[in-house]
Amino acid sequence: MSVRRLAEDAVQPAEFRFSRDNASWAKATIKKYPKGRQQSAVIPLLMRAQEQDGWVTRAAIEHVADMLKMPYIRALEVATFYTQFQLKPVGTKAHVQVCGTTPCMLRGSEDLIRICREKINAEPFETNDAGTLSWEEVECQGACVNAPMVMIFKDAYEDLTAEQLADIIDRFEAGEGDSVTPGPQNGRHLSAPAGGLTTLTEEDAPAPASVAKAAPAAPGEPGEGTQPAAMEEPEEKDDLKMLSGVGSKIETLLHSIGIYKFEQIAGWKEEERAWVDGFLKFKGRIEREEWVKQADALARGGVEEYVRVFGKKPR
Ligand code: FES
Repeated sequence: MSVRRLAEDAVQPAEFRFSRDNASWAKATIKKYPKGRQQSAVIPLLMRAQEQDGWVTRAAIEHVADMLKMPYIRALEVATFYTQFQLKPVGTKAHVQVCGTTPCMLRGSEDLIRICREKINAEPFETNDAGTLSWEEVECQGACVNAPMVMIFKDAYEDLTAEQLADIIDRFEAGEGDSVTPGPQNGRHLSAPAGGLTTLTEEDAPAPASVAKAAPAAPGEPGEGTQPAAMEEPEEKDDLKMLSGVGSKIETLLHSIGIYKFEQIAGWKEEERAWVDGFLKFKGRIEREEWVKQADALARGGVEEYVRVFGKKPR
């Protein structure tokens, strides 16, 4: 059990404020709880504060406590108990959480930690010289069947070798972390057997009616949805890399299907998002990263509007 304390005063900002968009999200979130139970919103609010500023500051904890009308000590207890809250500044481009619990350790997590020490900092929770990268060892992340694995922000990278982690860290440092597809890095589908199927291998075997009915295509599988309308390559293309999840590779893929403008993406309906998600093998990332909302803001008012809506600059 680690001792978790707030960062020293020297790095604590004097005040915290939610961006306008986050403030209205927080209000709506608090309203979801039954009367008298609003303090239960402390975890989502602290998490949103962390997403906004990169870590949980003392000022943020006190601000959230004030919003929920709870004593500071209660909010402080939550922030210091749960290890998903970062109590001091972490890398601005990536904070690598390496699972070191038994299944991951047996499958090579010590090599992953060695890479973090070599490439980032010898000590956990310390950033590299540029302040862009940091790492820590965490307990089981619930992906043991794909061990060893790391989390970077909300994404898991699994079935990792030391060399692959080194490459992933380099890509995040280069600002191209979004070009790495989360999930297994050894080519297998989710947690399917690494050596291929050993059962249910006969394609012609009829599935029981109940099973066939209950097994629609998983979201994001290729073939699902409708391909969005393409446009001729314009003279002036939008910089699609401003959307989170889009690096140069993904941008090239989007161009290959005739997507060049934010306004195109802003207009995608559910079936079009599903098709592109499958095409990019994104496993739901288009929804998670709110591409439509991001593209809509950028199409309507550029970076200024994006900052107004999301409380931060686009990539
Ligand atoms: S032991 Fe690493 S994810 Fe469970």
